[in-house]
Amino acid sequence: MRIKETDVRICTGTACFVMGGADLLLLVEELAERWEPRGITREMIEGCIHISGSPCIGHCRESGLRPPFLTIDGQLIGEATLEGVLAYLDASCLDQTV
Ligand code: FES
Repeated sequence: MRIKETDVRICTGTACFVMGGADLLLLVEELAERWEPRGITREMIEGCIHISGSPCIGHCRESGLRPPFLTIDGQLIGEATLEGVLAYLDASCLDQTV
């Protein structure tokens, strides 16, 4: 199974952090646990899913969107939850045909 190269940027600004962003920082650990039964190691994940933190990315003041925010390959996601991000990465990063 192949993992698509993906950039995940998690906002670690105050608003995002206190509204659930702290949970998002557990993403690698949760992915490793979730994907281990499929033979995917943490090292494989870290080699393909590039996760970084970022100071406020400026969206917490916009109406209509609520923290916590992150971007996945540049696509903004608001009200992000760890489970939602895991499901998204499940659907978008794993090439089931290999
Ligand atoms: S604190 Fe996350 S967008 Fe501002």
